[in-house]
Amino acid sequence: TEQIRIAVLPGDGIGPEVIREASLVLRAAAQAEGIRIELIEGLLGGVAIQACGVPLPEETMELVRGSSAVLAGAVGGPAWDSLPERLNPGLGGMLRLRRELDLFANLRPVVSLPGASPFLDILLVREATGGAYFSMPRGRAAAEEVRAFDTIMYSEAQITRVIRVAADLAESRSGRLASIDKANVLESSRLWREVAERELAGWDIEVEHLYVDNAAYQLARDPSRFDVIVTENMFGDILSDQLAGALGSLGLLPSAGLGTGTFGLYEPVHGSAFDITEHDVANPIGAIRSAAMLLRHSLGAIAAARRIDDACTAVLSEGFGTRDTHPIHDVGTRELTRRILERMR
Ligand code: NAD
Ligand code: IPM
Ligand code: MN
Repeated sequence: TEQIRIAVLPGDGIGPEVIREASLVLRAAAQAEGIRIELIEGLLGGVAIQACGVPLPEETMELVRGSSAVLAGAVGGPAWDSLPERLNPGLGGMLRLRRELDLFANLRPVVSLPGASPFLDILLVREATGGAYFSMPRGRAAAEEVRAFDTIMYSEAQITRVIRVAADLAESRSGRLASIDKANVLESSRLWREVAERELAGWDIEVEHLYVDNAAYQLARDPSRFDVIVTENMFGDILSDQLAGALGSLGLLPSAGLGTGTFGLYEPVHGSAFDITEHDVANPIGAIRSAAMLLRHSLGAIAAARRIDDACTAVLSEGFGTRDTHPIHDVGTRELTRRILERMR
């Protein structure tokens, strides 16, 4: 049988450190379930700028187009973050990749460590190809003084498709969905709420609409009352880091960038964290769980995905983890992964 090709884009900072571990786990899980995969590495972000002068080289785009899924690390860092749009690892690399592949539904599951109280099991669905990140006009204008501007634009179609993904997921979970906007102020949010109300009327789920400021408050106070959350691009970016705070570490969160087919881009939610690189302390769980999401969503390999998730849960509940979640039995990035691999056998 033919091998399933997976593009691996390690990125910058702790990206390569956690993606190396996630690749080991991905290979082991696939092998255990008799799934033949080949992992092919490519350049994205600052490392691509260093090697070829651009954050998303054409070669990487071709590799990605010829693959069934992508596993990516974070991109960016102090050396490149102020570069202009086209040369910027975030804007010209990761965001361009999400946009070119039309990966509009970004799934960010927020699941507590074993034994945590309150126990959180939330799924944040972030719209990922529209809003302030991509809308025109944006730029600068020099009149009497320099001005900078961004636009938040959403079309009905863009809102409808992500609301449908979230509604479908809510239906398969608790049947509860919270849609978050700023419809008391922003025109794009007024349309968001109108479309959400119209679309969700046809679904057998319990819907709640919240303004984003109240949502931030409710999430800080009692996140456990939420199940599926759907929101626009920038609100989703901010609220996912906030939810990571409720869990205890940003290093725990995985994500899946999905479009209309089975293709997906899987990446931990955290950034390149140059403050902790090369110390073997980066939490690999977000990257490892992203590999599990890849198996589940793009390859339909449910058993292999479960094997990974169960091994992570088992090792963490034995009390072992990196120092951000387990300051007492702090085992380091590589040792934590070794224990997870051992558990999977
Ligand atoms: P960050 O997510 O890199 O770090 C925030 C904090 O969380 C830091 O204290 C860091 O040490 C900690 N942290 C992050 N990941 C961790 C892990 N796996 N284990 C333990 N601790 C972890 O955010 P930042 O500092 O705002 O951004 C740094 C760079 O990363 C910037 O260049 C930014 O643009 C980029 N970034 C990239 C992505 C992406 O490519 N998906 C996401 C977010 C930030
Ligand atoms: C994320 C990141 C990215 C985003 C950055 C790196 C462009 O923060 O995936 O959450 O804002 O989408
Ligand atoms: Mn973010």
